[in-house]
Amino acid sequence: MSNLCIVGLQWGDEGKGKIVDTLSAGFDVVARYQGGSNAGHTVVADGRKFVLHLIPSGILRANCLCVIGNGVVIDPVALLQEIEELRGHGIAVGENLAISDRAHVVFPYHKEMDRLQEESGGSGKIGTTQRGIGPCYTDKAARVGIRVGDLMDRATLERKLRVNVAQKNRLFEALYGRAPMSFDPMLAQYLEYAERMRPHVKDTVDLLTQAYAEGKRILFEGAQGVMLDIDVGTYPYISSSNAGAGGAASGTGLPPKAVGRVLGITKAYCTRVGQGPFPTELTDALGDQLRQRGGEYGATTGRPRRCGWFDAVALRYAAAVSGADEMVLTKLDVLTGIEKIGVGVGYRVGGRTLERFPAGVDMLEGCTPVCREFAGWTEDISACRSFGELPRTAREYVETLEKLVGVRIGSISVGNAREAMVRR
Ligand code: GDP
Ligand code: IMO
Ligand code: MG
Repeated sequence: MSNLCIVGLQWGDEGKGKIVDTLSAGFDVVARYQGGSNAGHTVVADGRKFVLHLIPSGILRANCLCVIGNGVVIDPVALLQEIEELRGHGIAVGENLAISDRAHVVFPYHKEMDRLQEESGGSGKIGTTQRGIGPCYTDKAARVGIRVGDLMDRATLERKLRVNVAQKNRLFEALYGRAPMSFDPMLAQYLEYAERMRPHVKDTVDLLTQAYAEGKRILFEGAQGVMLDIDVGTYPYISSSNAGAGGAASGTGLPPKAVGRVLGITKAYCTRVGQGPFPTELTDALGDQLRQRGGEYGATTGRPRRCGWFDAVALRYAAAVSGADEMVLTKLDVLTGIEKIGVGVGYRVGGRTLERFPAGVDMLEGCTPVCREFAGWTEDISACRSFGELPRTAREYVETLEKLVGVRIGSISVGNAREAMVRR
């Protein structure tokens, strides 16, 4: 079996966690390649629910090595809390978790900057998770970031943190009139976190390079989704990393050819959290119905997710830029009982119909979706395990989506549990 990359094809929350957990049984390594504790991946295993933010969703499989790659930004507070929660559930977290010494570290000033930027942003507000993600990646790009490896050495941490705190304090004061943050308690706190993280910290580029050379099976886990990718997503309403398959190589240090096949995950409808264009959004009772039935509330922030129809224009684009070889369609069960299901098949703007997904959000915000309607079904499909068991209209819906996107749907998720999968 070749390596595989799991990528969200919408604006996040497609059900990646469930799929990674399900597939990880067949892999030796699961490597997360970008994002941070902004992610919220829900896994339901044997009736128990786990919400993972930083730790790869392969952690429930005892024989899987979970790697937090160099492309991830790590908030030690969130990470250590997650480890404790897993251990509290009887899940072993030891040698099976490796944290990259090259990953960047989120500090309190990143979270504060995220909050201040959002509050002062006015119309420029992104609706971030306020987990310090953007500011941490900003420091990485500005070459002033502090990496996990720095955290492991007291003198280096002290030197780099002192410069950063002084600099951030000048910014806080000048831009926002905010009182300065204290250096000493922050240093003491992070030295303590460092000791707790130390057993897991590795040169994961080397570790993964060796695993690859030995022919170990590697599953790459993307967080967020292609439409939130910093380069190909709906900029500026995106997160600050390469969530698409392109990030898998740079975020782990493995060569692009190691990434293997790409499996795109998409819901049978669409959701988005935070600001930004969403052409097929339903702001009426149908949208509320999708939110209630799908439990569409953020796994990280609890915010209600915006809900709407499947957007084939956006999907075609997302599948193309991520090179999706196949797709998994999730949450088809949520559509049960909806009489007429819509699908966005085009965008109307300025008297013409767009065939291709536009680069600019201004254009996107001015679009009206062209929707086609499909007959729904009323039967409970949550116990279906083969394609033939699905009602005719559900099968037709699935076949229409794959035709519109141009990528095969290899399996369909019909419930949050591991076993709730229809394979074709
Ligand atoms: P992720 O961020 O892509 O991992 O997705 P989230 O975990 O944030 O959101 C997906 C939610 O849908 C979670 O609560 C899952 O337990 C749930 N879920 C996943 N697949 C299905 C499905 O096929 N049907 C239903 N009803 N729920 C699902
Ligand atoms: P998973 O991995 C859905 C969204 C935020 C906001 C934008 C920027 O669970 O699919 P950030 O805090 O990253 O700077 O916020 O990105 N966002 C997500 N939306 N699922 C996620 O992760 C998300 N991570 C970030 O809501 O619009
Ligand atoms: Mg999520």
